[in-house]
Amino acid sequence: MTSSNAPARPDRNLALELVRVTEAAALAAARMVGRGDKEAADQAAVDAMRHVLESVPMDGVVVIGEGEKDEAPMLYNGEQIGDGTPPQVDIAVDPLEGTRLTALGMPSALAVIALAERGSMFDPGPCVYMEKIAGGEEIADLLSLDRPLPETLRLIAERKGMGIGDVTVVMLDRPRHEEAMKQVREAGARIRLILDGDVSAALLAVSDRSPVDLLWGIGGTPEGVISAAALKCMGGELLGRLWPRDDAERQAALDAGYDLDRVLTCNDLCRGDDVFFSATGVTDGDVLQGVRYRGSGATTESLVMRSRSGTVRRISARHDRSKLRAVTGGRYG
Ligand code: FBP
Repeated sequence: MTSSNAPARPDRNLALELVRVTEAAALAAARMVGRGDKEAADQAAVDAMRHVLESVPMDGVVVIGEGEKDEAPMLYNGEQIGDGTPPQVDIAVDPLEGTRLTALGMPSALAVIALAERGSMFDPGPCVYMEKIAGGEEIADLLSLDRPLPETLRLIAERKGMGIGDVTVVMLDRPRHEEAMKQVREAGARIRLILDGDVSAALLAVSDRSPVDLLWGIGGTPEGVISAAALKCMGGELLGRLWPRDDAERQAALDAGYDLDRVLTCNDLCRGDDVFFSATGVTDGDVLQGVRYRGSGATTESLVMRSRSGTVRRISARHDRSKLRAVTGGRYG
C-alpha cells in the first residue's frame, strides 16, 4: 500500500543524458581552439550537439537556440527535438558559449544546455540584451538593478565581513560598461574584465570559494535564461531587465507586450521546478577545465545538475578519440 505522502521514486535524471550532448559539442569545438575562425568553431559545436541531442528520448522544443529558422539550419528557435516521448520540455542551448574565446584560445568557453518543463522558459522576443546582476546565496537578497552599484558593493562587503577593496565584480569588457567600471573603481572595489562568456561568469559568481563576488553588466538575453536555469540548480540569484538596443527594438518589445521596467528573477526566467543543466568546458576556465588531449585520448570536465534534487555533479570523462570518430561517423573525436 502506498500513502499519498510517500516519497516519490527516483525518476530519470535527464541531466545525465545531457552531459553526452555537451561533451560532444565541446569535443567538436575544441578542435577549433585558437584557429581564428569562430563561425567554424560554432558550427562544429552545433553539428555535434544536434547529433547527440537527437538520441535523447524526450519531446523537446528549442526556446533559446541558434536564432530563427531561416538563419539557423539546426537548433533554431521552435525546432522540435527528440523522439516525441515524454517528458515535454523547453530546451535552451548555447552549443558554444564563447565563440571568440574558442577562436582565440582564451579561457572559459563552454558548451551548454538546459531543459525545463514545457512553457517554463522565458522567451526574450526581440530583445537581444538584458542588464544582469548575479551573486551567491549569501548576498542574494542584496542584489538590485535599481540601487547604485557602489552602494550594493558596500552592502556586499559588509555582509561578507570584508573591506570594499576585497570585493571583486566580474563584467564583460564593453564600452557600454565604462561608466559602471568607473563607479566600481571609485568605490575602491576590484573588477575582473572578461572578453566574453557571461554564463561562465554567472556560474563563477555563485560558486563556493569563488574569486569573484558579483556578476554585473549588460549581456545576451539567451545567456541570461541559461544562467538562470543553472542558478536554479546551483543556488544564488540572478536579476535581469530587458535592455533594448535602440528605439526600434524598444518599440518592437512594447508592441509584443514586454514590460521593459520589470525586474526578472531566476524564477521568472526559468519557472520550471525540474530543471536539468549540463555544461562542458571547451577551453580551461575557473569553473571547468577545457578539453585536453593525451595520446589517442581526450578528457572533458562537465557540470551536471538538476534543480529538483539539487544534485550538482562534476563529471570527468576520458574519451577514446578513434572510437568516437568511428561511432559518430567522423563528426567529432
Ligand atoms: P557567443 O556565444 O556568441 O560567443 O557569445 C558570447 C557572449 O560574450 C555572451 O556570453 C554574452 O552574453 C554576449 O556574448 C554579449 O554580447 P556582445 O558580445 O554583443 O556584447
